[in-house]
Amino acid sequence: MLSPPDAGDNPAMLISHTITYVKIFMAHVVQPGDMVVDATVGNGIDTVFLSQHVGPQGRVFGFDVQAPALNKARKRLQNKEAPDNVTLIHGGHECMAQRLPAEIHGQVSAVMFNLGYLPGGDGRIITRPDTICAAIDAALCLLKREGVISLVIYTGHPGGPEEAEAIDQHCSALPPDKARVMRCTMYNHPASKTRLLLIKKR
Ligand SMILES: C[S@@+](CC[C@H](N)C(=O)[O-])C[C@H]1O[C@@H](n2cnc3c(N)ncnc32)[C@H](O)[C@@H]1O
Repeated sequence: MLSPPDAGDNPAMLISHTITYVKIFMAHVVQPGDMVVDATVGNGIDTVFLSQHVGPQGRVFGFDVQAPALNKARKRLQNKEAPDNVTLIHGGHECMAQRLPAEIHGQVSAVMFNLGYLPGGDGRIITRPDTICAAIDAALCLLKREGVISLVIYTGHPGGPEEAEAIDQHCSALPPDKARVMRCTMYNHPASKTRLLLIKKR
């Protein structure tokens, strides 16, 4: 089992970078044996995190539109000796409901998104407003009740502010009896261009 940054008996640890916050939060949401989705595999850092948390009895489905990213993630999973519990899918997260077996719809405990472009990769390939909103709806279909979606959203790159705005509009209109949405951001730090949205299915 991976040791994430752990707030332990120091909740102040949560007031940190959004990436740290989401890892601490998700480490509590994701349990051994769970089914989860990494909607933006990239270099595979989150995929390894999820794989180690759900353990050998769990399952991780990972999506990315870039084959080289999936190859890097595959190597990272091997190097980190992650359990053999990951299915990597070369395709857009907006199609996750169609690409995943019908029997797991309504059974997934967490879907993680880390938006923007692949660090060290082609900066022109970014997540986009229309597909991300479709992907949030698809993720809500896959989630079980009390399941959680996390979205780390960047506004510092071209296209980022428009994507963040589309997500805000989409998620603020989600019916409160279907989902609860929480937005977190740092205000006085370079990471203030990053924000985190947490969505709980009701
Ligand atoms: C910030 S990176 C993800 C970082 C990754 N979570 C990690 O731990 O290394 C964003 C990724 O989203 C991918 N992406 C862009 N559009 C996508 C889409 N429609 N579906 C799935 N992945 C997409 C990009 O190819 C890129 O690898």
